[in-house]
Amino acid sequence: PERLEAIRHLIMQVRGQVAAERELRDPPPRMQPLLPGFMDLPQQMLDGFRRKGDASDLGRVLAAATRLRDQTDRVLVLGIGGSSLGAKALFDALCHTYHNELTPKARMGKPRIYFVGNDLDNDALQDLLELLENHCVDPELPEERWGAIAISKSGGTLETAAAYRVLRTEAAKYYGSQSPYVKSLFVPITGASGKFRDLLRAEGYSDEQLLTIPDNVAGRFSVLSPVGMLPAAVMGLDVRAILLGAAAMTRRFLEEPFERNPVLQYAAVHYLMCEELKKNVRVMSVWSRKLESLGFWYDQLVSESLGKQGRGPTPVTAVQSRDLHSRGQQHQEGTRDKIITNLLVKATRHPAIPIGMADRNEDDLNALSRKSYTDLQNAMLDGVNQAYLEAARPTANLILPVLSEHTMGQLLQMLMLATVVEARLMNVNPYGQSGVDVYKRHTNRMLRGG
Ligand code: PA5
Repeated sequence: PERLEAIRHLIMQVRGQVAAERELRDPPPRMQPLLPGFMDLPQQMLDGFRRKGDASDLGRVLAAATRLRDQTDRVLVLGIGGSSLGAKALFDALCHTYHNELTPKARMGKPRIYFVGNDLDNDALQDLLELLENHCVDPELPEERWGAIAISKSGGTLETAAAYRVLRTEAAKYYGSQSPYVKSLFVPITGASGKFRDLLRAEGYSDEQLLTIPDNVAGRFSVLSPVGMLPAAVMGLDVRAILLGAAAMTRRFLEEPFERNPVLQYAAVHYLMCEELKKNVRVMSVWSRKLESLGFWYDQLVSESLGKQGRGPTPVTAVQSRDLHSRGQQHQEGTRDKIITNLLVKATRHPAIPIGMADRNEDDLNALSRKSYTDLQNAMLDGVNQAYLEAARPTANLILPVLSEHTMGQLLQMLMLATVVEARLMNVNPYGQSGVDVYKRHTNRMLRGG
């Protein structure tokens, strides 16, 4: 608490700096790249929709989603890193846990969703092609239709570009090369310029048919742009509620004092823990399997934004109570280099499931028959926190009242804002990824020679 008090002035200064970066039109070279567009994007998307309706960015996202939802049984989301992980986080958090296994009726007409184009795995791609191929009877009216959302901001990402090429070829075989489905069921999202946009234009897409990632929004900060919002709308999620939650978090960040500002508190504590107390391993301990992908999204956000100049925390996602049986021991008694955040959801979506009485009691559970799954989970969380306290392991709880579009919007925006604040406290630029650019250059040279 004393250290927090001591840096409070600095934190408020950094908030002012981050807020001012939104207005900076011509940043000095040391601040480049500067891509703060994600902060105001949710409100801008909502305002644009209010003013221009179907012609706005959000209106076009919703129209494309309706088309994909109405006309397909499966939708592939092609993209990697920031062009994939946010949509996956929303899918896992907010859709039925077994969405893809449900019957079409139980899915209420929503297509199954697959996240692909995020590796170079030959056999996994072949399996996908087999999955897509096996129902086609009439090329003009296949029994089961599939479509894709192809996402690449730069347009130069090998995995996504290769997957797009293979799957477009597959679609042409599936529907027939002249079929309008090939184009209408492939919805591309890309930056304002780049190789992907050039290719799409050559394929006959007009600018109105393309969804654009704003120039000033970086890949890993783009979940609330069409990158995350189109897949979310296809899943049948309430996209406006996600954006409203995020916009509310931006306002809170900009307006609230430190005591009521979750962004500033989260950033300050993590900055102090990492930079001053050398707690370099940052464990996001999620107490719902539905939040594991949110953890992976955050892993990327932290790794690419803060892992620079030989510094930065190492993020780890743990899913509880599963990983208490694997990582738990280490977190409690291993190297003292960790800070643990329990990410909790207070209210379950379904009524609590009781353990119940049974005729045989060899398992000794009859004593707990009136307890529910929620009771067990809460007891385990309290037990773990008590053990961490006794072992002097720094721990905090981050609590969502419910898992909903609105709370997910708040959480995503909170973690993105906190990452930028932390980067500015550390004096690193959160937006570039110079290391990644180097390995991409080497790969290209190895593939093309020279
Ligand atoms: O955060 C980033 O910038 C990266 O993780 C990108 O999102 C990822 O490399 C994909 O890039 P692109 O959308 O340009 O294909």
